[in-house]
Amino acid sequence: MSRVLVTGGAGFLGRHLCARLLAEGHEVLCVDNFYTGTRRNIAEFLNDPNFEVLRHDICFPLYVEVDAIYNLACPASPIHYQHDPVQTVKTSVHGAINVLGLAKRLRARVLQASTSEVYGDPEIHPQTEDYWGHVNPIGPRSCYDEGKRCAETLFFNYHRQHRLRIKVARIFNTYGPYMQQGDGRVVSNFIVQALNNEAITLYGDGTQTRSFCYAGDLIEALVRFVDTPDEVTGPVNLGNPEECSMRALAEQILDLTNSRSPVVHRPLPFDDPRRRRPDITAARTLLDWEPKTGLREGLTQTIEYFDALLAGRSPARRIPANLAAVGRLAN
Ligand SMILES: NC(=O)c1ccc[n+]([C@@H]2O[C@H](COP(=O)([O-])OP(=O)(O)OC[C@H]3O[C@@H](n4cnc5c(N)ncnc54)[C@H](O)[C@@H]3O)[C@@H](O)[C@H]2O)c1
Repeated sequence: MSRVLVTGGAGFLGRHLCARLLAEGHEVLCVDNFYTGTRRNIAEFLNDPNFEVLRHDICFPLYVEVDAIYNLACPASPIHYQHDPVQTVKTSVHGAINVLGLAKRLRARVLQASTSEVYGDPEIHPQTEDYWGHVNPIGPRSCYDEGKRCAETLFFNYHRQHRLRIKVARIFNTYGPYMQQGDGRVVSNFIVQALNNEAITLYGDGTQTRSFCYAGDLIEALVRFVDTPDEVTGPVNLGNPEECSMRALAEQILDLTNSRSPVVHRPLPFDDPRRRRPDITAARTLLDWEPKTGLREGLTQTIEYFDALLAGRSPARRIPANLAAVGRLAN
């Protein structure tokens, strides 16, 4: 058992990670300023003696004692990270400096939740970790993309200069229960629209692609990554290499929800990448990991979650089978 700090622990992925770490018998310190995370996400852990939550903004230094750190704090959906772009850059950059300073003092392992957005609008497919990316440094997405790129720089500088034990995970689109309703991410958008029989908004002609990884699979990869030997620093792409067009995603969700929603087209947002697909050879080799959950199965679990949420039932009690197997959701 060890003491683990999860920054951003009240968010979508943070919540799943806290559940998984508690289930493994770790003590979990969740640090969050509730910018996009919610108390509801972590409510079921509050009576657990191994769980502690601290309201804190990681832009400010933090003095705690832990053995390992997962740095997830950062708004992840475009609506949220563009709402206050200066704060987004500060969270990525000052947050990384504070987390790395803490890891240096404690000699703790530290994982950075980086993102496929560091590749920008990529010119090569699929993206491998040695691709340096194609990022617009002054566009509306740059607060997130460049913030995360600078955080990676800081992680590697601390590693080279201070021999810190770092793990940099480049996370591609991940979905699942506990995504926020109305945060503008395509999977939750489509599901909520379909369940409400409202028009599904398809940007552009719907041929742009993404690859979607189920939350349970992603958490498994993060945990394996932190357990790798010190020389395994990454960056490592984590995601599902199966590509899916936005049109195909909409059709699948309409089918699974038996929805009567019409599909309406809207202009493609500025700077929106046309394609995104990870090459996960490194993750397969270094972590012996690949996603196990197919899109249809993962969407079914996610639809069940949102269905319960919209109907006012407690979604926390509706447990996706493959998450229950790895986490505290089973309680
Ligand atoms: N979900 C994805 O598809 C995806 C893809 C790539 C990378 N990531 C990365 O994974 C991490 C988690 O993403 P998520 O989808 O769970 O997002 P989320 O918005 O649900 O969670 C982020 C959490 O960080 C907290 N937070 C934000 N700023 C903070 C600050 N200054 N101090 C303390 N807490 C703060 C929020 O309140 C929230 O609980 C993020 O760093 C994100 O960039 C996620």
